[in-house]
Amino acid sequence: MDQPNLETPPATIVIFGASGDLTRRKLVPALHSLGCEGLLPGASRVLGVARSPLPDETFRERLYGGVAEYARHKPGVCELWSGFEGRVSYLAGSYDDPNTYRRLAEILGRFEAQASTEGNRLFYLATPPDLYPVIVEHLGRSGLHQGETGWTRIIVEKPFGRDLKSAQWLNQQVHAVFDESQVYRIDHYLGKETVQNVLTLRFANAIFEPLWNRNYVDNVQITVAESVGVEHRGGYYEKAGVLRDMFQNHLLQLLTLTAMEPPALFEAGALRDEKVKVLRAVRPAIQSLRGQYQGYRQEPNVASDSETPTYAALRLMVDNWRWRDVPFYLRSGKSMPVKTTEIAVQFKKVPHLMFPRSAGHEITQNVLCLGIQPDEGIHLRFETKEPGAGMRTRPVDMEFHYAKGFGTSALPEAYERLLVDAMQGDASLFARADEIELAWGLIDPILAGWEQPDAPPLVPYQPGSWGPSEATDLMARDGRAWHHGCGEHE
Ligand code: BG6
Repeated sequence: MDQPNLETPPATIVIFGASGDLTRRKLVPALHSLGCEGLLPGASRVLGVARSPLPDETFRERLYGGVAEYARHKPGVCELWSGFEGRVSYLAGSYDDPNTYRRLAEILGRFEAQASTEGNRLFYLATPPDLYPVIVEHLGRSGLHQGETGWTRIIVEKPFGRDLKSAQWLNQQVHAVFDESQVYRIDHYLGKETVQNVLTLRFANAIFEPLWNRNYVDNVQITVAESVGVEHRGGYYEKAGVLRDMFQNHLLQLLTLTAMEPPALFEAGALRDEKVKVLRAVRPAIQSLRGQYQGYRQEPNVASDSETPTYAALRLMVDNWRWRDVPFYLRSGKSMPVKTTEIAVQFKKVPHLMFPRSAGHEITQNVLCLGIQPDEGIHLRFETKEPGAGMRTRPVDMEFHYAKGFGTSALPEAYERLLVDAMQGDASLFARADEIELAWGLIDPILAGWEQPDAPPLVPYQPGSWGPSEATDLMARDGRAWHHGCGEHE
């Protein structure tokens, strides 16, 4: 069994798909920032693998551009690059050519003889997902899935499958070569500090958990709104759509962390067992709707009659002792008014109100709003007496902001945390095989329902709006309204 190691050990990080955007914008900037913080051991090496022939120099220049633009610690402020780039190299080759893996094995052997990476290897699949099986198979055939010394692990980028069947098949392919303990399925939302803080807030404080159940919570709303459209990713997005792109992974992860029972230990097995129990308890979506922003069909690589949804809202129920009858409303869309991710836990009304309501200030319910991004923080909304004669009340906010509490650059990038965790052998913030499959098991029936002739139609919405008006109706039918923005009061 692969045990977590609290020191980050050195390793060779082999990135397949090294000429892609993810490597330039996220992975290498994250590694650079880790180096700046002393969290990437000096002996570590980065080897990019991709199809196009490219001299090491050009590859490094490309990466430097990405680091300068996207890294939390920029070159110039942190003087790491000159030492770092010498440890970055490139291998060109086809992913289905055994020669690529032969050369890879030679290079790894050479690195391991020169630098003391202790034989540790971290493979990162950052290619288009249809290439994952072929790379995994070749790693297995060439014996690279297990080193003679040290550990070997593999990080698999999302999307992990496009439905339950393909995810099961991919799990089988991966398990034919790697043991589950070597596999790290990434969901970058789990690398966000504020997402991890959901657990800290719930389980390191005594005051919230007693209220965190059907007796006090009226409903939970999870919103992941993006102000951008699909940009240059039309080709990918056409095949994915919002449910595959955002719900199967990010939104369901946020749901499980909000709804799960406390594990006895913060440890990968225990944590993921609890998340899996939540997914098992989710009743298949009882209400769903989908929208598409106007102008989506004119985006590059998008069909002019595309039926791909760019917005969805779901009402899910978690059928267990804690959450019975508490709706979880999930929504996500592109081209919304703002970029924001939040979890709003809305509490029940007081059983009896002795104060007269004053016009303009309807008595609202208490809301504990977890601002995941971009204004990372926590807001607790409660009623207070308006100063002056009478007993008017109005809602106010008790707020905590990470930037104020810890400084503006205190929050590491999600990929920084996840890369370190994978190197330390801590899979707590990665999805397990069963978790992925259960999540697809919840998404598949919704997608299938949308294919039916009697399915509610795809509704267009104005770019820059909060989605189709049907989303407001979905809430209104339940006598509720969407919560817009942690610090905002309607
Ligand atoms: C990705 C999706 O997983 O998450 C993108 O593929 C989306 O479509 C992105 O834009 C959002 O991530 P973040 O961290 O910007 O909220």
